[in-house]
Amino acid sequence: MPLVNMREMLHHAYGNGYAVGAFDLVNLDFLEGILDAAERCASPVILSLAESHFEYFDFELLLSAVEKAARNASVPVAIHLDHGESLQSAMNAINHGCNGVMVDASHRSLDDNIRTTRSVVEMAHGCGVPVEGELGYVPGVEGEDAERHPGKVSYTTTDQAIHFVETTGIDFLAVSIGTVHGRMRGEAKLDFQRLRDINEALGLPLVIHGGTGLSEDQYRQLITNGVVKINYYTALADAAGAAIRKNVEATENNAFTQLTRGVQAAVSEEAERCIRLWGSTGRATEVLTQCTPWLPVEHLIVYNVNGLDDEGVIEMMAKGRDVLSKIPGVREVATGSAVKTDAAYRYTWLVQFCHPAVIDSYRDHADHVAFADQLFRPVAGERISIDYAWIE
Ligand code: 13P
Repeated sequence: MPLVNMREMLHHAYGNGYAVGAFDLVNLDFLEGILDAAERCASPVILSLAESHFEYFDFELLLSAVEKAARNASVPVAIHLDHGESLQSAMNAINHGCNGVMVDASHRSLDDNIRTTRSVVEMAHGCGVPVEGELGYVPGVEGEDAERHPGKVSYTTTDQAIHFVETTGIDFLAVSIGTVHGRMRGEAKLDFQRLRDINEALGLPLVIHGGTGLSEDQYRQLITNGVVKINYYTALADAAGAAIRKNVEATENNAFTQLTRGVQAAVSEEAERCIRLWGSTGRATEVLTQCTPWLPVEHLIVYNVNGLDDEGVIEMMAKGRDVLSKIPGVREVATGSAVKTDAAYRYTWLVQFCHPAVIDSYRDHADHVAFADQLFRPVAGERISIDYAWIE
């Protein structure tokens, strides 16, 4: 159950003066290490998957493990697409289990950033999913290449931020105030006055990218001035890498499990250090009781067919599975036929939506309307459809 609505989670943090760690993960050691840390701290947590890392793992495969682990956790969890590259990426992420998305168009022109972000908001809000937008440019690459910071920092301005939020309808704003993705060279100089002005003007949960390498006092000032989500990866990757290096030095053995021993614990320790610094420790119960659980809705149809033979029905179902599963917010489309020949209804559709909002957006989606009007309704006059919410 502990997957919760991310918008409500971050508003809780905003109202109570703490930040939630949004930790990028690249494998199961990271996933388990981060979740263990959150559970030791009784803290909400955001499990993040960055599109720039998709070359290292199968996104859909890892995401299903992330969702399973989140549902089994004892603390409130949200699953976020970090630095998505397109509207299509955001759609795919939502359909595979993310309940928060960011498509990063901050390196493009302001108009392009607004257009792209607005299209993501329209799609995601139709799925009940909140959206993070980024304005200004935070240079650098997290993880590998962490000391290369190509491009110049471009700071977020208050006027542009007001315009950006109004025209896009985003739920959270990532700001550029002097951080870089990856390892800092020297001490970061952060423009807190700029952050204070933006926060006062917007009153909206703010996000910091490039969380690695800041001082305790800098984290404290970020949180005092409206930052509720801190994106963090490079230091976790460095801790994992250091654990492997130690194993390599300590043994002649090439056994994989021996070389990677301790990675999970190292990631966990670093995530715990952050969680304790950012003030989310002990907040799990409040968040769980005050935020809506993130549970799917099952759209169930049972029906009989007239004017179509068995082969025709199978073809119609295959077409439906293909078309309907691509509609935003659709987690799964399953088709079936009754096991017993005397069943009152012979066939079934089970379409899983990620959120109740999808009941309406799916019904009105052009691809659903075309499929239903042209291929399904003309042959399935005898039917019952019901939307069920999960109860856990
Ligand atoms: P760091 O790698 O600097 O912690 O930044 C991570 C990040 O901002 C991911 O979006």
